Amino acid sequence: MLIHSKMKLAEVIHLNYHLLQIISRFGINLGFGDKSIEHVCRDYFIDVDFFLEILNSYHNKDYFPQKHLQGFSVGLIVEYLRKSHEYYLHTKIPEIEQLLQRLSDSYPEETRETYQLIDKFFTGYKLELSDHIQREEHKVYPYVFSVENAYLARNPTVEIVSSIHNYSMDDFEEEHDNVEDKLYDLKNILIKYLPLPADPRLCQAVLFELFRLETDLNDHARIEDKVLVPKVKYMEKWILEHFNA
Ligand SMILES: [Fe+2]
Ligand SMILES: [Fe+2]
Repeated sequence: MLIHSKMKLAEVIHLNYHLLQIISRFGINLGFGDKSIEHVCRDYFIDVDFFLEILNSYHNKDYFPQKHLQGFSVGLIVEYLRKSHEYYLHTKIPEIEQLLQRLSDSYPEETRETYQLIDKFFTGYKLELSDHIQREEHKVYPYVFSVENAYLARNPTVEIVSSIHNYSMDDFEEEHDNVEDKLYDLKNILIKYLPLPADPRLCQAVLFELFRLETDLNDHARIEDKVLVPKVKYMEKWILEHFNA
């Protein structure tokens, strides 16, 4: 089922509660009554078409209108990607850390050893994720903006051409690793080897959060790889073809 602008935003959440985190990433707070998506987007100054494309691509994995999403400006796409980064680093990861802390506290001293392995693993994972994000925010996104500016100005300069030769979307594609895959080992330790905690629901809660984070990171990477990359590649190609040395 396709989500459209006349639908009530409340209905969308009843339809798929996972979208709640996407909605909040756009800065929309609960309490919107019976307002339609169109209406809420107007209230929050959000581009309704972009909002719908993101909701639909998360709601239905088969719905991925690459061409349509590619029609949006780099600014809109990057702003959304940045908000997701912020959500991972400042909301999701601290939430999981808190749960892990509660899990750790629930073990008696003598059985803490296996638990410490998880702690070490998660700390390592957090570092990797934050490196991945830093690289995109400080290197990739600024580059992407400079390519878009040069493309829109329709006048390729020596600077932008040498910048493309120096680092292009091909390089990004090559170095863009799957941070979500590394969560697999952590989940496995929890599923297979962790001694049963006093409250098994705690362990399940951590697992649910890890699965959710993994799916979310997957969808995020899909937008980077399938929307941002082809869009910028197209502009890089145009610039290189129209540069008169
Ligand atoms: Fe990212
Ligand atoms: Fe990424």
